[in-house]
Amino acid sequence: MNNLSNKLIVANWKMHKTRDESVKFIEEFSAEARKKKEFAKKTNSIAVICVPFTNIDAAVKAVKCNKPANLLIGAQNCYFEYEGAFTGEISAHMLKEIGAEYVILGHSERRNLFGETDEIINKKVISCLNEGLNVILCVGENLEQKNSGTTNKIISEQLKKGLAGVNKERLLSSLILAYEPIWAIGSQKSASSLEISEITENIKKHVAKLYNSEDIIPGLKVLYGGSVNSKNAAELLKIPSLGGVLVGGASLDCGEFLKILNCV
Ligand code: PGA
Repeated sequence: MNNLSNKLIVANWKMHKTRDESVKFIEEFSAEARKKKEFAKKTNSIAVICVPFTNIDAAVKAVKCNKPANLLIGAQNCYFEYEGAFTGEISAHMLKEIGAEYVILGHSERRNLFGETDEIINKKVISCLNEGLNVILCVGENLEQKNSGTTNKIISEQLKKGLAGVNKERLLSSLILAYEPIWAIGSQKSASSLEISEITENIKKHVAKLYNSEDIIPGLKVLYGGSVNSKNAAELLKIPSLGGVLVGGASLDCGEFLKILNCV
């Protein structure tokens, strides 16, 4: 998964789109991608669409049927237990069974609206990795933390706790980090290239310190998320330390999402 020369463009649909709408999107995406030969030929990017739980199987089938190049399906959350009396929850094993290949964990909306702590997120990370899913672990500071200069401290803590018990091999093969400053999400104003560049470098350095190994830095993939769209994607994707982008609102429109992919 972690082919570092590939840019990863991840769509986080959040609680948007029905099953039918997801299938239509994938059909349109596939048809457009096929028409635009330059896109179809591109092998330097992978797109992942993280859809609501109820749409995963239909989206996976639509991908199998329409065969768009380099498009995979993911989930936006999952519970850490394998099975049991956990009303309303979905396990990593269940996600794997229906064909999800990626899962977003620790998104700030899960942390803030649903009370997920770093400890809970860490259990989810471990259970998804054990199941063979690729994990996109989100970290990032809120505006108050940014203004008080504690961004690096907050992110270091999230990384230390979120990655506890993840061995180096798994980290490099199946774990992607996403820097998502909370103040940039849904704000129409992304962080600056300079900010993103500095913080992604710091994230890599911090992870290297956690694993006591500078050698892992070139193998780490760090994405940026927060108001990415077709107008700023080209500039953001030029940041050398960045492995791709995580796109919320702008990924809901197929044309806009394709334009972002074409910025790679
Ligand atoms: P946004 O969301 O692109 O709408 O800012 C990004 C995210 O929450 O992952």
